[in-house]
Amino acid sequence: MQTYPRNPRESAVKTLLSPIYTGVHSFYGHCAQSPSLSPLRDAPPGSRFKFVTTPTETCPICGGTGWQTIERGKEREAVRCECRVRDRGERLLTAAHIPPRYAGCDLTNFNTEGERETLLDAKRTAEQFAENYPLEKRGLLFVGSPGVGKTHLAVSILKRLMGDKGIQCRFVDYRELLKQIQYTYNPTVQMTELELLQPVFETEVVLLDELGAIRTSQWVWDTVAHILNNRYAENRTTLITTNFEDRAERALEEKERGEHFTDPERAVRGETLGDRIGGAMWSRLHEMCQKVDMVGGDYRRRFYSTRLVRKRMSVKSHKDEPPPAVEEN
Ligand SMILES: Nc1ncnc2c1ncn2[C@@H]1O[C@H](COP(=O)(O)OP(=O)(O)OP(=O)(O)O)[C@@H](O)[C@H]1O
Ligand SMILES: [Mg+2]
Ligand SMILES: [Zn+2]
Repeated sequence: MQTYPRNPRESAVKTLLSPIYTGVHSFYGHCAQSPSLSPLRDAPPGSRFKFVTTPTETCPICGGTGWQTIERGKEREAVRCECRVRDRGERLLTAAHIPPRYAGCDLTNFNTEGERETLLDAKRTAEQFAENYPLEKRGLLFVGSPGVGKTHLAVSILKRLMGDKGIQCRFVDYRELLKQIQYTYNPTVQMTELELLQPVFETEVVLLDELGAIRTSQWVWDTVAHILNNRYAENRTTLITTNFEDRAERALEEKERGEHFTDPERAVRGETLGDRIGGAMWSRLHEMCQKVDMVGGDYRRRFYSTRLVRKRMSVKSHKDEPPPAVEEN
């Protein structure tokens, strides 16, 4: 049974945790049929944990029944009306928590013109994945430097799965999630770690964005293991992005090769994904996901430098104009 904060600090805690509450709310919101979700119905009066029913206009195709009849040769067949498919896609999109920054990302606007072969391949892999899911459930691990378009491609897949196939998806910011988990250790917060992680465990397709982007500790390793092992055991698909080098732990590799590096030397070499999430989880990740290498420039930088060049050119052209005539007295 889910509990809700009722102590005097309730509102402050709610504000701080609003992404979590909203997440849990919307995650369950579209599963309203399930009787096991009664906690939401039991929400305290005045809270926002309620089911909201919005009146919808009657669909001209199905007249509100949700079914339409189509002709197949001489046969007539009842199929789900497109209004229901569209509504479901929209509900799923809201519940997926895609950050506004990525709201416009799509496979169609992922530009590969004049790009290296790896970006073309990555886009093709993403398209095929969306096409074949759920026949092929093994996830994808997007690896590449900052700004190369990993999150753009991964979000595009989620949108396609939700829009075309009605599959429940969720965007999870790795850093944000770990911060929120840490927050549940605060005694004034009544949401437990398990409640927070429930949508991450149970959503059919999860995008774990920026894996590894938090300082390593045993606690981080354990949390990543908890998430990945759980999803692996349930055979659920996970998409992952990272800009750490996709290799096992450095220390392990060095030991295997009989090399020895001092700490400063190791710091210069940089950390691998294996260092960041632990060797065991790094191996598990490769069972769960197919690797997609993305090599290219930083799209953000390119975008801003193009704008800067345009701006400079407009300033220059302005300067090139003849100076305004000065009236002589
Ligand atoms: N090939 C592309 N076509 C169109 N837009 C792109 C492309 N690559 C990247 N972008 C845009 O550039 C921005 C940065 O891309 P994105 O966030 O996907 O990079 P990333 O590889 O995830 O970077 P980071 O490692 O920093 O998270 C986004 O706004 C994205 O939409
Ligand atoms: Mg990213
Ligand atoms: Zn309809």
